[in-house]
Amino acid sequence: MQESQKTYLWWQTGVVYQIYPRSFQDSNSDGVGDLRGIIQRLDYLQWLGIDAVWLSPIYPSPMADYGYDISDYRGVHPLFGSETDFDELLQAVHGRGMKLILDLVPNHTSDQHPWFLESRSSRDNPKRDWYIWCDPLPDGSVPNNWLSVFGGPAWEWDETTQQYYYHAFLKEQPDLNWRNPEVQQAMLDVMRFWLDKGVDGFRVDVMWHMIKDEQFRDNPVNPDYQAHMATYEQLLPVYSTDQPEVHTIVRQMRSVLDSYDERMMIGEIYLPIQKLVTYYGIDGKGAHLPFNFQLLSLPWDARQIASAIDQYEGALPPNGWPNWVLGNHDQPRITSRVGMQQARVAAMLLLTLRGTPTIYYGDEICMRDVPIPFEEVQDPQGLNMPDKNLSRDPARTPMQWDGSPNAGFTDVKPWLRLAANYSRENVAVQRDNDLSMLTLYRRLIDLRRNEPALQVGTYTPVYSDMNLVAFKREAEGHDSFLIVLNLSHRPGYFRPQHFPFTGTVAIATYPESEGVSVSDTLNLSGDEGVIIRLQ
Ligand code: GLC
Repeated sequence: MQESQKTYLWWQTGVVYQIYPRSFQDSNSDGVGDLRGIIQRLDYLQWLGIDAVWLSPIYPSPMADYGYDISDYRGVHPLFGSETDFDELLQAVHGRGMKLILDLVPNHTSDQHPWFLESRSSRDNPKRDWYIWCDPLPDGSVPNNWLSVFGGPAWEWDETTQQYYYHAFLKEQPDLNWRNPEVQQAMLDVMRFWLDKGVDGFRVDVMWHMIKDEQFRDNPVNPDYQAHMATYEQLLPVYSTDQPEVHTIVRQMRSVLDSYDERMMIGEIYLPIQKLVTYYGIDGKGAHLPFNFQLLSLPWDARQIASAIDQYEGALPPNGWPNWVLGNHDQPRITSRVGMQQARVAAMLLLTLRGTPTIYYGDEICMRDVPIPFEEVQDPQGLNMPDKNLSRDPARTPMQWDGSPNAGFTDVKPWLRLAANYSRENVAVQRDNDLSMLTLYRRLIDLRRNEPALQVGTYTPVYSDMNLVAFKREAEGHDSFLIVLNLSHRPGYFRPQHFPFTGTVAIATYPESEGVSVSDTLNLSGDEGVIIRLQ
């Protein structure tokens, strides 16, 4: 069947936008963003052309890891609002024809979750086996060499019951034992709770961590470790992550979603392509979208990016739908990684590749990583490894809405400091500027939405030059597009052999190129990207 005749679902055709709720919009003057704030800003998201909103966790939490340590899976943290606020938000999102995706954190709970409080209360508590408890080695030391992602050992000694518990992240985030069927049922019930309310899907936190080796074997040493890396990377997490049994769990989650109408699941998975694609599951019954993080982990180099795109396209299982990401709340922002000019090229890449794009809030106005003075660092990853510049705070600063005090985010001191340049770089300023990043994002989203070739069409790579990424997008019966992106600052010459073409530039990172007729060759400026409507 031709691509353009198939039926596509919302999570395939749409553009996803990630909101970090603490930093989007404060509505009650406490310096922290909240659900009512998000409601106030939905018009903006609709204007931008967003189809689905993913919220980082909004549940009750002691906030040891800023909401990724949940103490009640069915509630709303008072900082973010009430359950009524949530219902209103959901209704308001749906009222605009958009979808709402929640973060689901099934790998671990907070150490304050009633399940863990019970589990740690005694060895014979019925919930003891809901978490991962192990005896010390005969010399009293930790059960194996596994390390915490946030630094230090992954085992915490419990004085009362004289055993260690496992935590892949903070000691305040004990890992659940997903081999226990009661744990499985409890978390599937959590999913049903939100799905019954009408939530459209989940972004599942650290999906590849969910099951660990049954024998708790030591992880091997990473021969490529270097001192500047996080201490976690000293070992290869061969036995603590990506175990074969995880796929049975993912399949269970999927079958819950499939018992509803058109719900979906994104998996957070940092793995190489060949392993990543296994999370689509046998017969495509795994995650709908295992997050593809290549654009945020690879060096910004045209050859490496082009070949990674092709490898990914080639590795996808039948009917596996691709997806792309430039940033999230755990990674340096794209503008800080590749610079302002290349961030425009990156936006063009994100929104013209085949597959669902996810935009991290603020990237559309080229927000940068904000330097946070040591005494203001909040992120535990930054606090635990202070000499390694690993804090995630710089990419989590408040959204820059306008030039008023505190950028229109709040009217009091924000929880994390704002970028110094917010009065220059903000939504209000960029909205009225035809040449701004925001205008570029909006136009790219609009073109994608209106052109089946870009939204759902085929992808064909075209090789021409070491510094360019070029590809064609086509859908039967619709206009075709050629996208050529110069990932370098130097001029780039696109002279593909055996690929004659004629067309007009529809969108370019430099306005001078737009509307220009081109054929067979292109002379691109440094940092230039063009989308050509082919004749
Ligand atoms: C995921 C989240 C990250 C969090 C970690 C532990 O990687 O994206 O923010 O710290 O899981 O829950």
